[in-house]
Amino acid sequence: MSLKHSYTLIAPFYDAMLSSALASVRAQNLRHLPAREQTVLINGIGTGLDLPHLPPENRYIGLDLTAAMLRRATPRRGTLDLSLVQGNSLALPFNDGHFDQVVMHLILAVVPDSAQALREAARVLKPGGGMLIFDKFLRPGQSAPLRRAFNLIFRQLATRLDVVFEDVLAQAPGLQLEWDTPQMANGWFRAIKLVKS
Ligand SMILES: C[S@@+](CC[C@H](N)C(=O)[O-])C[C@H]1O[C@@H](n2cnc3c(N)ncnc32)[C@H](O)[C@@H]1O
Repeated sequence: MSLKHSYTLIAPFYDAMLSSALASVRAQNLRHLPAREQTVLINGIGTGLDLPHLPPENRYIGLDLTAAMLRRATPRRGTLDLSLVQGNSLALPFNDGHFDQVVMHLILAVVPDSAQALREAARVLKPGGGMLIFDKFLRPGQSAPLRRAFNLIFRQLATRLDVVFEDVLAQAPGLQLEWDTPQMANGWFRAIKLVKS
């Protein structure tokens, strides 16, 4: 089953599973977005759970692979300046340096090639632009046998469980780590800010 197919099936249940559990972490992470007419990509926007936490001063493009997820994001836009685009985070349909900021909540560990997704996000970011990441990552050398075992199933259905952020970052040159904060589940989930040099 492809991720597009599985997220089409997951879409009706996604908010019930994740909405309240992650609301405060989303709000906290998105407080780091500048609010001054910037162009912001919400990469892998899903059902739009980030939208209520976004400062209204910016222009937003929300991208996702799955039409069923995007349909659920539409009514959440409110008065935001938001365009929704169906597309692939591994080959973003935008020019180099198009965005001032990129938000990547629960997408980097979802896609089959995290390093390619990070390189693509960096490509469409302007020099000096920021990237806000929130996802679950293993630490270098962490064995995590259960997560690695379940990864064999989960990576096909919803998300990878074996992504080591430091390995991904090493394959995306030109990005500087600004901060990396453990958030939930004993630091498995991390909020990370990168800046393009
Ligand atoms: C775990 S959800 C996260 C959604 C949202 N960012 C959030 O924080 O709730 C992962 C999303 O990534 C999307 N997705 C999966 N593979 C993708 C790809 N290659 N390009 C763009 N979106 C993708 C899925 O359709 C799904 O909406």
